[in-house]
Amino acid sequence: MFTKETYVNRRNTLKKKMTGNGLILMPGNSDASMNYPANIYKFRQDSTFLYYFGLNDPDFAAVIDLESGEETIFGNNVTMDDIIWMGPQPTVAEKAESAGVRHSRPFSDLESVIKKAIAAGRKVHYLPPYRAKTCILLNGILGIPFENLREQASMELIKACVSMREIKEPCEIDEIDHACNIGYAMHMTVMKMAKLGMREQELAGLMEGISMSHGSMPSFPIILSQHGETLHNNNHNLDLEDGKLLLIDAGAESNMNYCSDFTRTFPSSGKFTQKQKDIYNIVATANNLGVEMSRPGLTYKEVHLAACKVLAQGLINLGLMKGNVDEAVAAGAHALFMPHGLGHQMGMDVHDMEGYGETNVGYDEKVQRSSQFGLASLRMGKELKPGHVVTVEPGCYFIPALIEKWKTEGINKEFINFDKLEQYYDFGGIRIEDDILITENGCRILGSKRLPNTPEAVEAEMAG
Ligand code: GLY
Ligand code: MN
Repeated sequence: MFTKETYVNRRNTLKKKMTGNGLILMPGNSDASMNYPANIYKFRQDSTFLYYFGLNDPDFAAVIDLESGEETIFGNNVTMDDIIWMGPQPTVAEKAESAGVRHSRPFSDLESVIKKAIAAGRKVHYLPPYRAKTCILLNGILGIPFENLREQASMELIKACVSMREIKEPCEIDEIDHACNIGYAMHMTVMKMAKLGMREQELAGLMEGISMSHGSMPSFPIILSQHGETLHNNNHNLDLEDGKLLLIDAGAESNMNYCSDFTRTFPSSGKFTQKQKDIYNIVATANNLGVEMSRPGLTYKEVHLAACKVLAQGLINLGLMKGNVDEAVAAGAHALFMPHGLGHQMGMDVHDMEGYGETNVGYDEKVQRSSQFGLASLRMGKELKPGHVVTVEPGCYFIPALIEKWKTEGINKEFINFDKLEQYYDFGGIRIEDDILITENGCRILGSKRLPNTPEAVEAEMAG
């Protein structure tokens, strides 16, 4: 945990941001079973609960009374049976005290506390739930139908939490730097160890093991595939084959559950072909531009569009696109090759706070989300501020089914040389991703060292 004062200060700030005299209800997470009740996934606490209360154990909930200011942790003390199987544990009151919370009650009291507030006409603020058990809890004590739980969450609470969690404190930046150093070790290990004939799953397993040996676990299921054109490809079932590109998108969580998220792409053989180098250099230029450009005052949508222009211009130079670059990007033609956004916020969630709703986190009154294919997938569009942590992850993919669809329907045909694309149907995809902290005047790349991002540097690592 961070210091007790960290959590006390955060809750005091949250209380000041909230108006009215209602309650804030923050449920923590419970263990989740894999294949029978006692066989559980590694526990992952809810990030909002961690942010305000720091308690990394299952089956807690917290209530903040906005009228009295009183804070209460609801949870059950361990039984003798629990002690026999799981060892001794501090009491709920002791755990609450470690986060600066003075009141604790058995979990079963939560229902009557909430129902009493509702009967008195008080508002109960809660965040959109994303786990079935939390939905069952909220449905039971708030009486809101399951299908309405997310939309009836408190927009006031969402906005207050976003405004706090998106500006990282120095203690959080230290944790993210640490998570980035673990991510660096994961990527460098497989870059050095990859050999033709190895199975993708051997490398994915190595990465997962490194993340767990230095921290908590991977920050999301590892993407490691020679079919990098499938953006979130979680299959690791191919052998490394000459001529293929291996796209690896992976990061770690620190022990305090802060994340890293890096992508690198390298040739399975250790040597790029000229065709692969040409696309790699375009993506690397877009990635470098995103890093160089990002600073307070610019919107991330502007940075995204500038990176898309680099991509489109590079593809025009190669003869895969045509026409005027500004018009091509305005029409969204480049999205055939990069159907996703330049990046997202990152913190305790790898897509930070995405449970609150992507648009609630990445957009505001000033910057609205586009509905155009490609740009619609930009998760972070709003103005950058010092303390924001974002990923910079341009990519270039050749997705045969998408190319065929656009070709058949004539979509953006004035900007795409469809005939030339047939030579790229087995290319796969390239993505290059770094994590940055927005500073007062610009940004800095998180982690002590930046992963190799030129064909020459990648080949040198693989040869070494
Ligand atoms: N690293 C996976 C993603 O950003 O979606
Ligand atoms: Mn990412």
